[in-house]
Amino acid sequence: MDLYEYQAKDLFDRHVVPVTSGEVCTTVDAAQAAAAAIGGPVVVKAQVKTGGRGKAGGVKLAADADEARSRAEGILGLDIKGHIVRRILITPATDIAEEYYVSILLDRANRAYLAMASVEGGVEIEEVAATRPEALIRERVDALEGMTPALAARIAADARFPENIRDAVADVLVGLWRVLTGEDATLVEVNPLVLADDGSVLALDGKVTLDGNAHYRHPHHEALVDRDATDPLELKAAELDLNYVKLDGQVGIIGNGAGLVMSTLDVVAYAGEEFGGVRPANFLDIGGGASAQVMSNGLDIVLGDPDVQAVFVNVFGGITSCDAVANGIVQAIGMLTDRGDAPSKPIVCRIDGNNAEEGRRILTEFDHPLIEIVDTMDDAARRVAQRAAARLEGK
Ligand SMILES: Nc1ncnc2c1ncn2[C@@H]1O[C@H](COP(=O)(O)OP(=O)(O)OP(=O)(O)O)[C@@H](O)[C@H]1O
Ligand SMILES: [Mg+2]
Repeated sequence: MDLYEYQAKDLFDRHVVPVTSGEVCTTVDAAQAAAAAIGGPVVVKAQVKTGGRGKAGGVKLAADADEARSRAEGILGLDIKGHIVRRILITPATDIAEEYYVSILLDRANRAYLAMASVEGGVEIEEVAATRPEALIRERVDALEGMTPALAARIAADARFPENIRDAVADVLVGLWRVLTGEDATLVEVNPLVLADDGSVLALDGKVTLDGNAHYRHPHHEALVDRDATDPLELKAAELDLNYVKLDGQVGIIGNGAGLVMSTLDVVAYAGEEFGGVRPANFLDIGGGASAQVMSNGLDIVLGDPDVQAVFVNVFGGITSCDAVANGIVQAIGMLTDRGDAPSKPIVCRIDGNNAEEGRRILTEFDHPLIEIVDTMDDAARRVAQRAAARLEGK
């Protein structure tokens, strides 16, 4: 989960990485009041989960509270790369002497962390990396040893930070490591880290990505979830403990086991090319040993997606027994019908493996006009793509 700048800086503060204070606002009145309370020049900053806010006009200096109000007026509601600005951060303007870049991120391929630093910050770091790679220091950080003071000092020296602030930069790197490990983040980035005219070293921007799998260890992370910006189906799925990811296609996918679901996405995308380019609408793994209830919850979510035109249930029974899957489908259709939401989208089922015969028997006996059983995964993928395309055409 990506955080907003103000949330990232709250975590920095919690772990003693120096930041400027700030207040997040959603109205121009609040912005004006916050600027008045700061009582000097402020910066009004769009809070959106995308980069390049400055270039898009989302970061503006204001000399006083009145100007902060008019800047806030211009920024609230602004569209930055498809993200509408609903919150702004009002923060004291810092007199900047120099802008730097530092980050630490999980480096999966190398089973370690990667720290990066550059004295050429403030600008897009991708550009520095591409045009002047020698200006961006990259250092492996052992996952168990972590960012030791010695390593941090070496990075600050290698990146050629001015000598008189190397200790302060090293402290920031060690602090960012505390954020990373203490909060279970996979990325912490500061661009710019600045040297202020008064000699202090401060994080003026912050980017943090938290590892969603570790949320249960951090009760305070729940408050960081931006419910308005999360897909409502993903929220509902999370409440039901389902592994669901919304995608942008038209074929609902339900399977058991992440590997099977991933390959189902591939075969459906491939089959869909023949039928006007229909694509998977989601990833949903009901997991091993899924009960009828889990299957039923899954169908409820997928059928509730207005983009979905047809559903593919692809189950290979291992621990999951196919009769439970079949009962789940029957149960889901019954539940939706009782609720007045009788399904109207075709459901193509490929059911194989543990107790498959019994599963197919249950569905055949149920004899529902929307359910179709197809023997192989490839044929089922073609069939579901065809049904989805046909429904799209009918619209
Ligand atoms: N509190 C501040 N005081 C003075 N200048 C600031 C302040 N915050 C930001 N700036 C200036 O604005 C520039 C852009 O700010 P920031 O890095 O927060 O946004 P951005 O880089 O445009 O957005 P993103 O990081 O999303 O790409 C900074 O490089 C800095 O020069
Ligand atoms: Mg920035």
